Amino acid sequence: MPALTVGVVGASGMVGGELLALLEKRRFPVGKLLPFNSGRRESFVRFRGKRYRCSAPALTALKECGLVFFVSTDEVSARFGKKLAAAGTWCIDDSSHFRLDPSVPLVIPEVNPGGLDGRSRFVAGPNCTITGAAVSLTRVHRRFGIKELRLATYQAVSGAGKSAMEQLRAELSHWLKKGRVPDLPGRGLPHPIAFNVFPQVGGFDAEGNSSEENKVAAELRKIWSAPGLRVSCTAVRVPVLRGHSLAIWARTGKPWTLKSLGREIAAAEGVEFRPGRGDYPTPLGEGDRTFKVYAGRLRRSGTHPREFQLWAVSDNLYKGAAWNSVQIAEKLLTAGKLGV
Ligand SMILES: NC(=O)c1ccc[n+]([C@@H]2O[C@H](COP(=O)([O-])OP(=O)(O)OC[C@H]3O[C@@H](n4cnc5c(N)ncnc54)[C@H](OP(=O)(O)O)[C@@H]3O)[C@@H](O)[C@H]2O)c1
Repeated sequence: MPALTVGVVGASGMVGGELLALLEKRRFPVGKLLPFNSGRRESFVRFRGKRYRCSAPALTALKECGLVFFVSTDEVSARFGKKLAAAGTWCIDDSSHFRLDPSVPLVIPEVNPGGLDGRSRFVAGPNCTITGAAVSLTRVHRRFGIKELRLATYQAVSGAGKSAMEQLRAELSHWLKKGRVPDLPGRGLPHPIAFNVFPQVGGFDAEGNSSEENKVAAELRKIWSAPGLRVSCTAVRVPVLRGHSLAIWARTGKPWTLKSLGREIAAAEGVEFRPGRGDYPTPLGEGDRTFKVYAGRLRRSGTHPREFQLWAVSDNLYKGAAWNSVQIAEKLLTAGKLGV
């Protein structure tokens, strides 16, 4: 069997670390691994018991690979992604740079695997926040036609990368020693996050929406091929290390019963539905190194006869990023598209 050379750009980051662990755990046929970081610091990663030094990415080295995972920054994906795919390398990108590009499929394997037909060797994975809504509600959308979606998100700090996790840990450790939350110099998040929440994930546009709120709306419309879907979102950062939660209000075109909605959610691929009243998922319980989207608290909303509410939790680093990418790679492998 020919060996597959696999590149991971951003191997030293949060998503990169999870991706390497998943490739190992899933016994993905990596013949040779090329791990890349920014080159601004010395970083080592471990894969199958071997220690690798990361280096800065260059097109010549990337072209050695049959498959490259981009888990670094928008700028890096923009610089190399399309050139590499045009040269024949399969690229799976977790950055947001190409997600809305009409020539790039934006794929959640449980929802729209058709994007992996090979017409584009560059495939994007979605924002970690919408996965919970897209995976849990796809069947409901297909059967009852979701017209409007309102979301309040409760997003873990790991969604903002390694430095945000370090910020929360450092603030908590300072609080334990000194009894107050410090305002650390050079913090990456817009406010201290320990014992705090703030309605800002990314920068704001002229309308007052954050970049995360805009991504959620635009990416969901693309994934569901539903340009007319109305989405309204408030994205909130919370002092959780891992696991994004969503409070969802969805209004459909067709009428439903709670029983029929529950059946569709429970039957959705990649979803664990918790119908019990107090049996709802939490980030600590279900959002840490888990592969599924967990949903519960399904109920009628008080505002419209065709509107219901749902609570969903998923691991932003697994289903929201690394696992979604590995699932895409496994589908390409099974379809014989990776040449191994
Ligand atoms: N975190 C999530 O939940 C999540 C979910 C979905 C998508 N994503 C996306 O996944 C990507 C990685 O996120 P993350 O949370 O893992 O971030 P992170 O923890 O901050 O890691 C960033 C990685 O990118 C590398 N990097 C930075 N600048 C680079 C450059 N110029 N050239 C090559 N490598 C560079 C870093 O290397 P150094 O160690 O040398 O700095 C590090 O390995 C981002 O595009 C993010 O939007 C993240």
